[in-house]
Amino acid sequence: MKKKYTTDSASDSETNFGYRRVSRGEHAALVSNVFQSVAHKYDLMNDLMSGGLHRLWKKVLINHINPRSHVQFLDMAAGTGDITLQCLDCLQKEGPKHSKGFKATLCDPNDAMLEIARKRAVDRGYVKGIEFITAPAERIPIEDLSIDICVISFGLRNVTDRSASLSEMHRVLKFGGHFLCLEFSPVITPTLAPLYEAYSKHILPWLGKLITQDRESYQYLVESIRKFPKPDILAEELKRAGFSNINYHTLSGGIVAIHSGWRI
Ligand SMILES: C[S@@+](CC[C@H](N)C(=O)[O-])C[C@H]1O[C@@H](n2cnc3c(N)ncnc32)[C@H](O)[C@@H]1O
Repeated sequence: MKKKYTTDSASDSETNFGYRRVSRGEHAALVSNVFQSVAHKYDLMNDLMSGGLHRLWKKVLINHINPRSHVQFLDMAAGTGDITLQCLDCLQKEGPKHSKGFKATLCDPNDAMLEIARKRAVDRGYVKGIEFITAPAERIPIEDLSIDICVISFGLRNVTDRSASLSEMHRVLKFGGHFLCLEFSPVITPTLAPLYEAYSKHILPWLGKLITQDRESYQYLVESIRKFPKPDILAEELKRAGFSNINYHTLSGGIVAIHSGWRI
């Protein structure tokens, strides 16, 4: 099967970096700067920004993943490794029979983030059956039809070419393979909207500056959430990328959504 990579003409065109229109090349560099800059405080900031809610959202995602033995698992935009580590913790709790043959690949274009993931994995004693790949979702250096479960958690918002990334994640899945995406959603329930708006506009960038000395990166976070497609639109994009049986549900009044699709 042919790999569907971004074409040269696509890479010349523009995309959004938050509210700014930038070239695709510039976008990848700007996103890379964001995560390079916040990597060392990323986990702390996640807890502070979400009041610990991201742990709950990820727990719900792990339930959907349902980690089990003999699964080739791809954690795309793996960052500091939260999703894989939680899957491995879950398998460890259930005992060796359940974790046998579970293979995780953590893929991310940012070495600073992956390096933290690697250290966290080693600290918890996870060395076997775990692999790290430095690459973007638009060009996944993995064979066609080789992954059982592909997850992207808070990563799709950051890719430069969403359509190419979704096609790539579809390409690497086996038939019967499951795709899951956890991402912020721009559609908030009306009762929460004013509070969320005020929090995003004033508190989040201030927290970013206080903890990481980097207000701009957290301003980008706010803007990128607002520019991200609504869940209905994203579901259409999954369909165009080839996924079947697509559905999604929102959590915490629409702050985040979990999308699910299958390669059939
Ligand atoms: C907000 S972090 C999410 C980390 C982790 N998945 C989690 O849920 O905590 C976003 C990650 O997306 C990565 N990223 C940025 N551009 C990407 C791309 N084109 N393809 C894949 N990952 C990308 C960043 O390097 C960063 O590690």
